[in-house]
Amino acid sequence: MPWNPEQYDKFKAERSAPVNDLFSLIQIRPGMRAIDLGCGTGEHTRCLADILPESEVLGIDSSPQMLSKSKQFERKGLSFSLGSFEDFDGKYDLIFSNAALQWSGNHEQLIPSLWEHLNPGGQLAVQMPRNQDHPSHQIAQKLAQTEFAEFFPHKKKPTERFNWILTIERYAEILFSLDGIDIVAFLKVYPHILENSDAIVEWTKGTLLVPFMEQLPKEQQDSFLKRYSELLHVKFPSSPVFYGFKRILFSAKKL
Ligand SMILES: C[S@@+](CC[C@H](N)C(=O)[O-])C[C@H]1O[C@@H](n2cnc3c(N)ncnc32)[C@H](O)[C@@H]1O
Repeated sequence: MPWNPEQYDKFKAERSAPVNDLFSLIQIRPGMRAIDLGCGTGEHTRCLADILPESEVLGIDSSPQMLSKSKQFERKGLSFSLGSFEDFDGKYDLIFSNAALQWSGNHEQLIPSLWEHLNPGGQLAVQMPRNQDHPSHQIAQKLAQTEFAEFFPHKKKPTERFNWILTIERYAEILFSLDGIDIVAFLKVYPHILENSDAIVEWTKGTLLVPFMEQLPKEQQDSFLKRYSELLHVKFPSSPVFYGFKRILFSAKKL
């Protein structure tokens, strides 16, 4: 199951709060050259371009499915292309990434490599989920390690990336070691009130569960989802369900 823009957009309203917090960290100047790493459907990239006067903004994403939706958001000064954040060209005044860098490993190297793409005075601004200790993540991990372990061999664990995300203070330290200034780094709980535990399944189907589904044979996908829903329901039997979603936000500028 590849990325599915319709599934991802089911929780559009809930996903807009963290990106707005990230926008508020940007030190806006006219004529900026900006890149949005892992831009997805491009909707947030358009919002970004619209708050940066006279800017040139590029959104890159490695998923053709997500990018296929970005055409509608293109305009003068805003373009999209297929690409990966481990390997892109150019120097920018703003490197922006919302809910995407968690899909890449080794942040101890990734953050310094992104920093290399900043012009002097440029800013890096990142938001990522840090919710891997929540039952929504833990239950998926447990199923992959137990009932469905045969489909998740040791070297190909979709949960491996849970360990990629560092502590908030570590991101701040890395930014400091890069001579970053105006360092901001914080963890925030976004409170989502969902109808019931099935709504958590709908949420995670759009993001967390994508690599799990990709790895499972087609005929196992429904069984996995069924067990995942059952176990989540045991954990969250009442209605509504409080889904407290933790996210990391950080930003710094290059001297
Ligand atoms: C959760 S979506 C976030 C999309 C968008 N930034 C937003 O604010 O809605 C994560 C995106 O990261 C993209 N992605 C994952 N790994 C990537 C990589 N290595 N390089 C570029 N994009 C990547 C996925 O294709 C997906 O569109």
